[in-house]
Amino acid sequence: MIGCGGQQEVAQIPVPDLWTDGVLFSSGPVALRRLEEADCTDEYVSWLQDDTVNQYLETRWLAQSLESVRAFVREQRSRSDVLLLAILVEGDRHVGNIKVGPVNTRHDYGDLSYFLGAKDVWGRGLGSAAVRAACAVGFELLGLNRLQAGVYEQNTASIAVLEAAGFQHEGRFRQQLVGPHGREDHVWLGLLRTEWQTADPT
Ligand SMILES: CC(C)(COP(=O)(O)OP(=O)(O)OC[C@H]1O[C@@H](n2cnc3c(N)ncnc32)[C@H](O)[C@@H]1OP(=O)(O)O)[C@@H](O)C(=O)NCCC(=O)NCCS
Repeated sequence: MIGCGGQQEVAQIPVPDLWTDGVLFSSGPVALRRLEEADCTDEYVSWLQDDTVNQYLETRWLAQSLESVRAFVREQRSRSDVLLLAILVEGDRHVGNIKVGPVNTRHDYGDLSYFLGAKDVWGRGLGSAAVRAACAVGFELLGLNRLQAGVYEQNTASIAVLEAAGFQHEGRFRQQLVGPHGREDHVWLGLLRTEWQTADPT
């Protein structure tokens, strides 16, 4: 997010060692682990090229290829203010990604973004489970005070996922985005650590 409260400098995430490659953070039906270059498969590229998956993702503005996704993963892994995580189900099946960050450790907040590329797993509560797991990473493991996410107003599934995790609607930037059906508001939701601690986990 750009602005006087936005990310001006890279800040160190306090516990990067926790995300040694291969370590799993399990929560309900999903597990998260740090995304590796080896996760960049043709299937991963096909997710990003899928018009239904990418209609609300900024990745749709750029051509995607194995090389471009590998470069993206390398760049994200080199950053100390971002945790880019693979969403795993049914053991080790990689079905999408979730990112905690950029994190601002001066103000203790971080952005959250995610997608499930494997459409056959949509509608089973896995997006919600992944967001809840990433909230646990942000609040418990990284010690953040706040997580926030920006969503196209027509992306009702994504808004429902955030609401189910306890996120509150905080703001709306009118017609900030060009969506699949025209201009859309950019809706911002946020969750505080205190709200997360008292939320009903069901
Ligand atoms: C958004 C996304 C993560 C949702 O994941 P999911 O696993 O299908 O969602 P869940 O099964 O956890 O459902 C969560 C809620 O969304 C609702 N929902 C699911 N699909 C929906 C749809 N197409 N339209 C409206 N609501 C929908 C569910 O009913 C559920 O609501 P409830 O908690 O009130 O019952 C997934 O569809 C996705 O990755 N989409 C493409 C990428 C994307 O848009 N990412 C988010 C960018 S901000």
